[in-house]
Amino acid sequence: RKVLLINGPNLNLLGTREPGIYGSTTLSDIVENVKSRAQSMGITIVPFQSNHEGAIVDFLHSHFSPRQKTAFTGVIINPAAFTHTSVAIRDALLATSLPFVEVHISNVHAREPFRAHSYFSDKAQGVIMGLGAYGYIAALEFWAQKWDVEEE
Ligand code: DQA
Repeated sequence: RKVLLINGPNLNLLGTREPGIYGSTTLSDIVENVKSRAQSMGITIVPFQSNHEGAIVDFLHSHFSPRQKTAFTGVIINPAAFTHTSVAIRDALLATSLPFVEVHISNVHAREPFRAHSYFSDKAQGVIMGLGAYGYIAALEFWAQKWDVEEE
């Protein structure tokens, strides 16, 4: 059981970046919190943050093997600004057949209209937004319960 925890551009600045919108929790706080919860669920977290679109594509490719059993591999991704722009990351998720939950810290529908469109939502297992850093925990719990059900 493995979860790829992917965060896009500017999320490395969480904690100091627009705290009124994104809160005061840092990305390393989020990653540590997700990791410690995952441990008790028997899930390994592979965290990755990049400000570069192609690096995220490469990271996804590096977790793809056509023969590899991916039944218990899931993705939690906050594509950040790439949500609204990136056909390339969308295509990489589809090319690797890695199922994903899309997370946003803020409620993008309550913000500028250009944030309302996502290149990911129509292909996501689900979308969590507006719940702050808790959204990542909610996504983790989703994967844990889904795999528990599938293993029964
Ligand atoms: C975000 C929302 C995006 O619109 C924005 O570009 C981000 C963060 C969020 O988590 O709320 O960088 O994905």
